[in-house]
Amino acid sequence: MKAPSVQASPSKVATPNFRAKYIKAYILFLLILSLLFYFEYFHERPQPIRKSLCRISEEVNRLYSCNVDCGNKRQQLTMWDKVQAGEHNYFQSLRRIFSNSIKPLSDFQFKPFIRNVSIAEWKFFDWFSQLYTRSGKSALLNRDSQVVSLTRSLVDKSSCSEAVGFVRDWLKARDWNVSLQLVPSRNGDDKENRMNVFATRFGDPNPSVVFCSHLDTVPPFIPSSIGEDGFLYGRGVCDARGLVASMLVAAQNFSKGVGLLFVTGEETDHAGMIEANKLGLDTKYLVVGEPTENKMAVAQAGVLKMKLISQGVSCHSAYPERGKSATVPLIKLLSELLEFKDYPKDPELGETILNVGVIGGGIASNVVPDEASADIMFRVVSEPEVVERIVTKRAKHYSITTKTYSKNCPVRLYHLEGFPTFVAKYNTDIPYAKFYHKALLFGACSILDAHTSQERISLDDLRKLPENYIHIAKTLLDS
Ligand SMILES: *[C@@H]1O[C@H](CO)[C@@H](O)[C@H](O)[C@H]1NC(C)=O
Ligand SMILES: *[C@@H]1O[C@H](CO)[C@@H](O)[C@H](O)[C@H]1NC(C)=O
Ligand SMILES: *[C@@H]1O[C@H](CO)[C@@H](O)[C@H](O)[C@H]1NC(C)=O
Repeated sequence: MKAPSVQASPSKVATPNFRAKYIKAYILFLLILSLLFYFEYFHERPQPIRKSLCRISEEVNRLYSCNVDCGNKRQQLTMWDKVQAGEHNYFQSLRRIFSNSIKPLSDFQFKPFIRNVSIAEWKFFDWFSQLYTRSGKSALLNRDSQVVSLTRSLVDKSSCSEAVGFVRDWLKARDWNVSLQLVPSRNGDDKENRMNVFATRFGDPNPSVVFCSHLDTVPPFIPSSIGEDGFLYGRGVCDARGLVASMLVAAQNFSKGVGLLFVTGEETDHAGMIEANKLGLDTKYLVVGEPTENKMAVAQAGVLKMKLISQGVSCHSAYPERGKSATVPLIKLLSELLEFKDYPKDPELGETILNVGVIGGGIASNVVPDEASADIMFRVVSEPEVVERIVTKRAKHYSITTKTYSKNCPVRLYHLEGFPTFVAKYNTDIPYAKFYHKALLFGACSILDAHTSQERISLDDLRKLPENYIHIAKTLLDS
């Protein structure tokens, strides 16, 4: 019965008034639709994770030809098994990001990813996101950036034992036979166990080339950062974790003949290298990484570290004849040593260098001091004993006693054609290693930046470094 009345309505629809309304509503609808469209696609919505994941998956796809659908509705990352780098700190920060955003992610098929994700996968994701957020561009995202990210992973380890653990895991995941060697402390009060990392290919326990550097750094800890000047900054980027990272990458190109040894204690007591002598190696070529500005050292100066101790008798400074000053003879001795002209010289190594590093003594300006001492260090170009004798002879003249803390001879190094050469005035672990036939010293960045708050390495140099090490090892293996 109602139907006929409904049928009557079409006459109403046809009225111009109704049509105008219809068009208005239609325009409004289009307007709302385009606004929605605008917000959906162009406005920066608070979904950085989703966005960066999409960009990252595209990047993964581009780099490693993985299977990614980065469409509007589906985002899948399926290449997590090709994990490139791992990092505990990154893992933590990543976990934080994800725990805040499980909901938006779950909309995009990340549920399985979140529920069952290996630590390595987290690390990989975060490694990528770090590259994005810190550099703000994807220029770093090419294959050779592996050495950059690896360096950063190592530099961002605040303790040496964390760095050791990281290197061990990284190598184990790449088919290396890795062993850790405990390095006993000299005074028994070390807070953490110090470890050397030694790695060879399975079945190749005594490789003829060993890449060697150190994982310990000088304090304080400075996390890594990329400067706008194209340098990577941070503690150890140059001395020597950036070199360790380069050696790690370079070693992957060899299935035999090359080993890796990363020691500890280089910056203090050389205990790591001394302990490494017990590994039973008989290495033809030891390739040591220290900052050398892309040059190869032909020789390395030796060192002689001594303490000068002057004893006096204290008294009131108004009556100096009642006592005997400890500082005066020490000052005289030091100036004599500084002005001495006949220290050994060497045509290749140059001159002996003396530094008066520490002076101490006395208690007040009105007291004749009964005790004074100085710590001095020579960079020697001869046997250290020659200089030691010069010092003790002059010290005796002033009744000053001497004590030798450490000394080692200069070392002649093996070097290859095609590299610029130089003489290393600084000390390395090389004099403490007894298991090699020939040692080479090569690395990037400047020793003058090492140990400073502005420690840095040029990203260009860092990227080229693995290739240089590969070239060196290939040349040595072929020789
Ligand atoms: C997670 O994945 C691993 C292997 O990929 C599997 O052995 C394990 O059972 C999974 N765990 C869960 C909770 O699904
Ligand atoms: C693995 O390394 C250890 C320690 O260096 C060595 O004793 C062992 O022979 C190596 N194993 C293989 C299969 O190379
Ligand atoms: C090292 O190995 C990679 C992958 O196998 C290769 O692409 C690269 O050319 C090699 N580098 C050198 C210097 O041989």
